Amino acid sequence: MPRLRKILFYLVVLVSFFLVRRSFVNDSGKEQFPVVVIGSGLAGLSAVNQLLNDDVPAVLLDKASSFGGNSVKAASGISGAGTSVQKKHHVEDSPELFLQDTLSSAKGRGVEKLMKVMADESAGAIAWLQERFGLKLDLLSQLGGQSVPRTHRSDGPLPPGAELVKALTRRIKNVSRDYPDKVKIQLDAKVTDIKINKETNRVEYVVYRDASNQEQVLRTGNVLVATGGFSYSQDMLKKYAPQVAGLPTTNCLLTTGDGLNILQSLGAHLVDMDQIQIHPTGFVDPKDRKNNWKFLAAEALRGLGGILVNPSTGKRFVNELETRDTVTESIRKACKKSEGVSLLVISENTFQDYKSSVEFYISKGLVQKMPISSLVSEYNLPISATEIASDLIEYSTEKKDKFDRVHKINTFGDAVTADTEVYVAEITPVVHFTMGGVKIDEFSQVLNESDSPVADGLYAAGEITYGVHGSNRLGGSSLLECVVFGRIAAQHISRNF
Ligand SMILES: Cc1cc2nc3c(=O)[nH]c(=O)nc-3n(C[C@H](O)[C@H](O)[C@H](O)COP(=O)(O)OP(=O)(O)OC[C@H]3O[C@@H](n4cnc5c(N)ncnc54)[C@H](O)[C@@H]3O)c2cc1C
Ligand SMILES: *[C@@H]1O[C@H](CO)[C@@H](O)[C@H](O)[C@H]1NC(C)=O
Ligand SMILES: *[C@@H]1O[C@H](CO)[C@@H](O)[C@H](O)[C@H]1NC(C)=O
Ligand SMILES: *[C@@H]1O[C@H](CO)[C@@H](O)[C@H](O)[C@H]1NC(C)=O
Repeated sequence: MPRLRKILFYLVVLVSFFLVRRSFVNDSGKEQFPVVVIGSGLAGLSAVNQLLNDDVPAVLLDKASSFGGNSVKAASGISGAGTSVQKKHHVEDSPELFLQDTLSSAKGRGVEKLMKVMADESAGAIAWLQERFGLKLDLLSQLGGQSVPRTHRSDGPLPPGAELVKALTRRIKNVSRDYPDKVKIQLDAKVTDIKINKETNRVEYVVYRDASNQEQVLRTGNVLVATGGFSYSQDMLKKYAPQVAGLPTTNCLLTTGDGLNILQSLGAHLVDMDQIQIHPTGFVDPKDRKNNWKFLAAEALRGLGGILVNPSTGKRFVNELETRDTVTESIRKACKKSEGVSLLVISENTFQDYKSSVEFYISKGLVQKMPISSLVSEYNLPISATEIASDLIEYSTEKKDKFDRVHKINTFGDAVTADTEVYVAEITPVVHFTMGGVKIDEFSQVLNESDSPVADGLYAAGEITYGVHGSNRLGGSSLLECVVFGRIAAQHISRNF
């Protein structure tokens, strides 16, 4: 028996040796290095999880000290067409319909081939998140430009982006702890360059600065750049989209286009860099007005009854439910005196209808409850409280709206006085999403100006890329592109590893 044990022991050693060897040496016997994934937003996290799945070793780098980038902020959800959840709710949808919606929103821009990939893979992406990570994603909403309810989220304490990041991160952390050879996590690692071997035209090194600002070099054969967009960089907005420069943003301060600049220096084609999505309502924090970062005031605040008032007249000035670009234009034109700041006013009924969110905004000091008389004194409005009260009554009761707003719910009623309490916030247009970016092919490889891959082993996914949104991004489509193209890049790498 001891002899059998000995044989078994050597057998195990032998098998382990080949298993370990497999992860570093490919069939041609050459050394293989871990894939480097830059950026721990949803695109990077999806890629690393797919690589884990395919048993390909990876290193995940992020310049932040924690995971998730902008992806943790996403609040509406992730789109998918033809999912089991839609079937359960008897929603008839298909990748074809999703593609049509995407094309009409894109207004002639973007890459149809990539949009088709995103639509075709969308149900699979949702199923992957549900099955592999145990996420429910069982609630649906229909956002602007969608023919049917298509954006998925879970009923739970965490908003959708945070839920996704948490689940995908947990698995990576677990594996990294137990099998450090399979995946390494390197936070506080700011990538500054990627080097390509001129002879083989394959990526060879990633250069980054570590927590103590020391330069480090990582040898590799495959790099996925998933560093997000450039909404936080005033320099890049000035350069590529001067029409929106100076506007604050809902994006976190990590969103500075680092990956775009690195890839451009390697020969990548940057397309539609002037295509920026502006959201009309970001909260101005009265305690921190000048902050370039603004908390997003959800569209639902207006959808559920909120109106906009010009602080230099004390009057409404726009149909609040026009498309995002139109409302933005009106605010920028009408509220010049207040430097683009407008007042968002909601009724007690709207508050009741959207209670947990508004309570959250109140707790952050972004929304305040006050009688109309205080509204006038607080914001120095040039009209009297009784005048405002009668304007609100007129708005609530008139047959035809001055600005053709048709959808009126949760109005202020017909008994408004100077003592009536309302909820008030200061809002301003904000840079929300950058549609342009690096051109990629259907395998997520980075392309040059003649549509050839810039180098072997060079990939990009997520907001850094151009193609699936054209001139307007639909709600829920960004988280989706992260999962779809993050996984596609990983699978393409795995196949050739
Ligand atoms: C408030 C808000 C709400 C949103 N809601 C939704 C929604 O409901 N649905 C939807 O689909 N989309 C939504 N979006 C858009 C969506 O969240 C983003 O477009 C998406 O998360 C981008 O993911 P990403 O992985 O490409 O990049 P990110 O999540 O931004 O991650 C990029 C990461 O790269 C890191 N990085 C950057 N430069 C470097 C460097 N030089 N070296 C190392 N690391 C670097 C950053 O630190 C960051 O962690 C929302 C966006 C915002 C701001
Ligand atoms: C093995 O790796 C080398 C160098 O990275 C590469 O040139 C070669 O094509 C790879 N072979 C296979 C079969 O993947
Ligand atoms: C990760 O590990 C923790 C602690 O061991 C465990 O509770 C959790 O279920 C694991 N999650 C995954 C996704 O493996
Ligand atoms: C793009 O790459 C291809 C293949 O390497 C090359 O022939 C072509 O000249 C490149 N185009 C540009 C504009 O650099």
